[in-house]
Amino acid sequence: MEGKLFFMIISMLVVWCSTSVNSQSVGSPPISSPAPAPAPEHVNLTHLLSYAGPFHTFLNYLEKTKVLETFQNQANNTEEGITIFAPTDDAFSKLKNPSLSNLTDDQIKSVLLFHALSHYYSLSDFKNLSEMSPVMTYAGGQYTLNFTDVSGDVSIDSGWTKTKVSSSVVATDPIAVYEIKNVLLPEAIFGAGIPPTAAPAPAPHIAPSADTPVADVGGSNSSPKSSPSSSCKISNLGILTQLILAIASGVVLMFS
Ligand SMILES: *[C@@H]1O[C@H](CO)[C@@H](O)[C@H](O)[C@H]1NC(C)=O
Ligand SMILES: *[C@@H]1O[C@H](CO)[C@@H](O)[C@H](O)[C@H]1NC(C)=O
Ligand SMILES: *[C@@H]1O[C@H](CO)[C@@H](O)[C@H](O)[C@H]1NC(C)=O
Ligand SMILES: *[C@@H]1O[C@H](CO)[C@@H](O)[C@H](O)[C@H]1NC(C)=O
Ligand SMILES: *[C@@H]1O[C@H](CO)[C@@H](O)[C@H](O)[C@H]1NC(C)=O
Repeated sequence: MEGKLFFMIISMLVVWCSTSVNSQSVGSPPISSPAPAPAPEHVNLTHLLSYAGPFHTFLNYLEKTKVLETFQNQANNTEEGITIFAPTDDAFSKLKNPSLSNLTDDQIKSVLLFHALSHYYSLSDFKNLSEMSPVMTYAGGQYTLNFTDVSGDVSIDSGWTKTKVSSSVVATDPIAVYEIKNVLLPEAIFGAGIPPTAAPAPAPHIAPSADTPVADVGGSNSSPKSSPSSSCKISNLGILTQLILAIASGVVLMFS
């Protein structure tokens, strides 16, 4: 008699608890899932490149070829984001042989696209990029770059150009812009093999990393993606178990 009563109470509790668990796990996600974020303000690349640097030559090329729009679109409208290597004005003015002057419009465009990766990479990601090298650039196909990361000291090798990431202009997902002191010349245009005249000058001037990359830009923590529904379920199940245990021990006490 008493045993039946307890059994009924326990089963009622089990039913009640499990329905409450279900209704919570079904009901809660819409409530606690992050509200649709207000449309994010995106970095205005034109603005950024006109005030940092100086990157006026690079910016002029980007505007003339409309590659700027491509980059801005990639930044605004994709999950991937973008990483841009911006050569300084000095980088362009010291470019003598080969120069960009006899390239076709399409080739110039490819050279510009060669200065970007279709994904946002923070400085800490370059360790991976060096393991993944050669890395395909925004120009696609054979337009690849090799990266080396020696404890945060990032070098880029295009075959024709060896340069370093000299500083980080901006590195906030979805846009990273890094300053470089040489224009990246792709083998896909200038040919593979040993660059004839590229070697002599730069070697002795390797400044002992005077302008090391800006340390940790933002850190961009990976957003915690804990699922609210699962934690509800777990805590509810916890209560359920405790109830059953409590009642069961009560039953045991009564009958012992
Ligand atoms: C990118 O976003 C900014 C602000 O968020 C906006 O002003 C600009 O028009 C957008 N550009 C493109 C090409 O989507
Ligand atoms: C981006 O910045 C440039 C230069 O400051 C400005 O002329 C342009 O209107 C800006 N574009 C947007 C979409 O805000
Ligand atoms: C540009 O001119 C240089 C010599 O003036 C030549 O070696 C090179 O092949 C030319 N490049 C292209 C893409 O025509
Ligand atoms: C870096 O590489 C490791 C293994 O090669 C991979 O597990 C990890 O997801 C990569 N990280 C990024 C940010 O690509
Ligand atoms: C890039 O790395 C690959 C693989 O290590 C190598 O075969 C290639 O020659 C390198 N290219 C340049 C330009 O250093």
